Amino acid sequence: MNADGRIRLHQTPEWTALAKHHQELGEVRLRELFAADPERGSTWTLRVGDLYVDYSKHLLTGETLRLLRDLAAATGVFELRDAMFRGERINTTEDRAVLHTALRAPRDAVIEVDGENVVPEVHAVLDKMAGFADRVRSGEWTGHTGRRIRTVVNIGIGGSDLGPAMAYEALRDVTDRALAVRFVSNVDGADLYEATRDLDPAETLFVIASKTFTTIETLTNATSARSWLLDALGDEAAVARHFVALSTNAEKVAEFGIDTANMFAFWDWVGGRYSFDSAIGLSLMIAIGPDRFRELLDGFHLVDEHFRTAPPESNVPLLMGLLGIWYGNFAGAQSHAVLPYSHYLSRFTAYLQQLDMESNGKSVDRDGQPVEWQTGPVVWGTPGTNGQHAYYQLIHQGTKLIPADFLGFARPVAGLDDTLAAQHDLLMANFFAQTQALAFGKTPDEVREEGVPEELVPHKTFRGDHPTTTILATELTPSVLGQLIALYEHKVFVQGAVWNIDSFDQWGVELGKVLAKRVEPALTEGAEVPGLDPSTRALVAAYRELRGR
Ligand code: F6P
Repeated sequence: MNADGRIRLHQTPEWTALAKHHQELGEVRLRELFAADPERGSTWTLRVGDLYVDYSKHLLTGETLRLLRDLAAATGVFELRDAMFRGERINTTEDRAVLHTALRAPRDAVIEVDGENVVPEVHAVLDKMAGFADRVRSGEWTGHTGRRIRTVVNIGIGGSDLGPAMAYEALRDVTDRALAVRFVSNVDGADLYEATRDLDPAETLFVIASKTFTTIETLTNATSARSWLLDALGDEAAVARHFVALSTNAEKVAEFGIDTANMFAFWDWVGGRYSFDSAIGLSLMIAIGPDRFRELLDGFHLVDEHFRTAPPESNVPLLMGLLGIWYGNFAGAQSHAVLPYSHYLSRFTAYLQQLDMESNGKSVDRDGQPVEWQTGPVVWGTPGTNGQHAYYQLIHQGTKLIPADFLGFARPVAGLDDTLAAQHDLLMANFFAQTQALAFGKTPDEVREEGVPEELVPHKTFRGDHPTTTILATELTPSVLGQLIALYEHKVFVQGAVWNIDSFDQWGVELGKVLAKRVEPALTEGAEVPGLDPSTRALVAAYRELRGR
């Protein structure tokens, strides 16, 4: 029983109906499904904004989808969704509202947290960011010596890095090429070293991004960056022109030595991994300009509205979430590949890893009881054509069930010249060919027809029936990027709601942080750390010896 008296997920009639249905369906062959319904390729599609979503190549029937939607209704997905949009404290373990949707709400929207409309504050910060971004872009904001800023170095980690870093790559074609943005996240000093070694401190702006402003990696890198700057400029006053902060914690920002006038705020109802459309997006806004940043927000908002209002049958994030539940909970899939056919989306899957795995990597439910069902998948992937020559072999002919999302674009980005733009059709030919091969494979008879010797037939046979969703968009614009990210945010939400887990906390990353702080003196000073386990103790001793201490 759940705390609210409802029976637990795996005992609900909707869950057991799905398990039974899965058994009854047995082996699903996509060739057969398409033979039975030749229209499937065009009718099993949905449109949202600029996205065309094809879910025809999935190992399920209309009945499966109905049962999955029943499960969503029975588990309160829609009620939780509405509670999220209303600003209720659905992040129960941290007692917080979950309102990233308010970050992209239009100026005249009213969204209340504890009786207060947060939308004016959101837009006040966006306006302040826009003013600052314009001044950096135009050269009006100069460094301490009066020189123009040429490079922005964003220092942050997790949600304070992955979103802007991914989007900067994704939207490079619309960035101001005279102004570079670099991202430093790793506490390995090599990261900051490589990011700054060829920079002129007088022309460098550091954006210190940290929701809490207590994250050790970020504060360590920020402190080193300040030394690097002051070693060159020799005047403490330079910090005010070369450091800005993005945070919810004004006190810690001031303690670090950054003037809070140079701080861009956000709020505890924005989760770190849901924050890049908040002040955390400042580096990106400097790169693409406030107008394009607003287009990005509009793209998010478009999908928010779709998720909030579209009926279950045509609700894309709901569908994506439920497909994942079908494979993860009933068909035994452990992972989910996201394969963008765009060089610009090289960091997209890394971003999704935090979004999905930090959100839904949980093993107790909202009531603190161990779950007796699978939760979040391992999310992985890299840009598609490169993957084709690396790990696709395993997807095509390996033994694992790996549902995959294929993301592609109808048009290349505007910046490519005619020769390079012409390569786009070849890229997309690969995109379509892969999902075709994955779905329909090649039968032994088809292989034989090609004159392949009998002993090679098993090796050259492709079973097919590897499920994929194809998301085809017009072009990788800021709005389309916002639409794509919002799709995944809400997909993660749907799954967390069905699994009855809190998708908005991340207690699992805390233990490692605490232990790192305890172990550090053992490395540096050889200090005795009480309670250190024998394996770690031996490793630390080996480290000290190898380090020559
Ligand atoms: O990895 C844990 C985490 O708390 C993430 O959720 C967050 O995005 C990241 O650390 C960085 O936190 P902060 O923005 O507070 O520095």
